[in-house]
Amino acid sequence: MRTLVRELKEKVGQQVKLYLTLDVLRDQKHLQFILAHDKSGSIQLVVSKKTVEKHEEIGTLLQGSTFIAYGLLVEALQSKTQGLELQVSSIEIMSKAEAFPITQESSIDLRFDYRVVDLKFPKQQLMLKLRSAFLKGCREYLDSKDFTEISTPKFMSAASESGSQVFKVDYFGKTAYLSQSPQFFKEAGISSGLEAVYEIAPVFRAENSQSSRHLTEFTGLDVEFAWCFEVAEVMQLEEQMMLHALSKLEPFKEEVKLLYGIELTTQPTVKYMTLEEAKAILKEKGVMSLGKDQDLPDEGERMLYEILKTDLIFVSDYPIAKRPFYHYWERDKGTTKSFDLIFKGIEITSGAIRQHKLDVLSEQIVEKGVSLESVSGYLQNFTWGCSPHGGFGLGVDRVIAKLLDLSSVKEAAFMPRDTERLTP
Ligand code: 4AD
Ligand code: MG
Repeated sequence: MRTLVRELKEKVGQQVKLYLTLDVLRDQKHLQFILAHDKSGSIQLVVSKKTVEKHEEIGTLLQGSTFIAYGLLVEALQSKTQGLELQVSSIEIMSKAEAFPITQESSIDLRFDYRVVDLKFPKQQLMLKLRSAFLKGCREYLDSKDFTEISTPKFMSAASESGSQVFKVDYFGKTAYLSQSPQFFKEAGISSGLEAVYEIAPVFRAENSQSSRHLTEFTGLDVEFAWCFEVAEVMQLEEQMMLHALSKLEPFKEEVKLLYGIELTTQPTVKYMTLEEAKAILKEKGVMSLGKDQDLPDEGERMLYEILKTDLIFVSDYPIAKRPFYHYWERDKGTTKSFDLIFKGIEITSGAIRQHKLDVLSEQIVEKGVSLESVSGYLQNFTWGCSPHGGFGLGVDRVIAKLLDLSSVKEAAFMPRDTERLTP
């Protein structure tokens, strides 16, 4: 039976069988020292050339090779792996690795070219695990609030987010579009009678941008729930979800410090303000002066963080001019019941209360210059009754990139896709 490295403490003096991946091999005159790991930890192995038949072949193994090791587990005070060591009786080689084509010092492009090798390194392994734990934390929170996880189509007959770029694909002779947001479908989830839905899925944006914050395919966490009326309710739900999910990253703190040299944020600071207030702060500090109908540019978001030193800044009440037709417009004020969430200086979320009244929604569509025909399917969903609702879309890759202070959102993707990259 397989023993995991983390179970070894209780196995001193026993024969064990380990499934391992090689990290380092030192070949000496009479002995070979191997440092290897499994999913649960690292262990030192000693191979005596006198007793282990295959030692010559073992001596040729390179980093990444996989093997099954049998032997006696002993205490070895000099061993850095929990003070334990495996005295190998035999090794069965499973896969011989070739020399790695990259190191962690290679250029980021080369590292992406060989992403599976890049992912083998402890820093990237940690990133993948932290990412998984963050998503688990979000799911846990939403599930505890009676949300239903849905899976919506990624092929669409029309673009879903006006303004953002869309990929066209040939669909049996017709044109289909890759979903730029599950917006219409998650609202359909509300129309369908579910009172709270979420989805974690790929989002496609044909963004011709080389920036450190854009992928052409990213992971979106989209949330929508009924019976909310004010944007504060949507922001509070997201705040609670973020606080829960980040608190669940506590066990990663030490390793993040060790490998990334940073303090992982597990208890973020939070502030709420309107866009007008945010603009006033930027103006007062002499950073930039923004007009009534202007959005916060990237630099404004970054500077807001620099000035306020607050991890999560909820900025609400964006002007109608800058928000899509489906938001709840407050015409008298010229604003929408909407918000962006800025995490460590970059937008990670846009959200809003939606317009659920068919006649008002139709007016807003026309006013935004969108043809009613092009969104007839979406509109129809409101015909048979729909609760007031709101929600948000969060870019998962951006959260992870900011948490680990990565150079680009691409480093937070398993295999990034951008304007230049369709492989591996
Ligand atoms: O701000 P966006 O475009 O909002 C929507 O898609 C709305 N339908 C959401 C809603 O419920 N109102 O996208 C949501 C988030 C952004 O805040 C950002 O974090 C991320 O998705 N995002 C990207 N991440 C990586 N690469 C890109 N090209 C991204 N575009 C947006
Ligand atoms: Mg946005």
